[in-house]
Amino acid sequence: MKRLVILISGRGSNMAALIDAVRAGEIDAAIGIVISNRPDAAGLATAATAGVATAVVDHRAFADRVEFERSLAAAIDAKAPDLVVLAGFMRILSPAFVARYAGRLLNIHPSLLPAYPGVQTHRRALADGVRIHGCTVHFVTSDVDCGPIVAQAAVTVQKDDDEARLAARVLAVEHRLLVGAVRWFCSDRLSIDGSPRAHPGRNRRPGGAAGAVGQGDELPAFLTVQPGNTRPKPVSSH
Ligand code: GRF
Repeated sequence: MKRLVILISGRGSNMAALIDAVRAGEIDAAIGIVISNRPDAAGLATAATAGVATAVVDHRAFADRVEFERSLAAAIDAKAPDLVVLAGFMRILSPAFVARYAGRLLNIHPSLLPAYPGVQTHRRALADGVRIHGCTVHFVTSDVDCGPIVAQAAVTVQKDDDEARLAARVLAVEHRLLVGAVRWFCSDRLSIDGSPRAHPGRNRRPGGAAGAVGQGDELPAFLTVQPGNTRPKPVSSH
């Protein structure tokens, strides 16, 4: 059975999905601890109520990122995890920290990477008039939001979507996608194959592609294309 550590910064709904899946036996793992960098993260209470140990490593309590990450790594390593999951963890991690957990650090990001790395992904997707949006689970590398992709889930953008509506629809598939990817990892069906399929972009090194080992396995990729989406394409400015 694999040991998990989950890092959060806020609401913790992705974390809750993982806790539920572990409890239901869908993921063969034990959650050692949930760690938040924010003491006011709502997810801490959710985890505690579910009987999962919690800790706070408040980034504001440290002089610099090196000191913060040293304390964070100590809290993580105390549980000797096989996998560390960034489930809405909103701090950028240094290359040294990422290297420490190479191959055992997964992140859920609310866009179809390599589109919309960074923040405000739903707002930017709406502003661009895209028809398909979604989320990505990827291995974390030192280049933010561009490590090897494990799985993606897509939703259609509806003509009456606003940021909140779109975010809610993406979040629902995030929960399923993250549970699927972690289930893969915990049953040793996930590996980084090393092929040079990096995300294009500035100063990015090839990260390799992640894939599930084994044929005929179910893919945790939920493409939900609904017909009748007539949102007009915005007029191009160039
Ligand atoms: C999710 O949309 C996740 O993809 C992003 O931050 C949000 C966290 O939501 N990184 P929650 O804390 O899991 O509810």
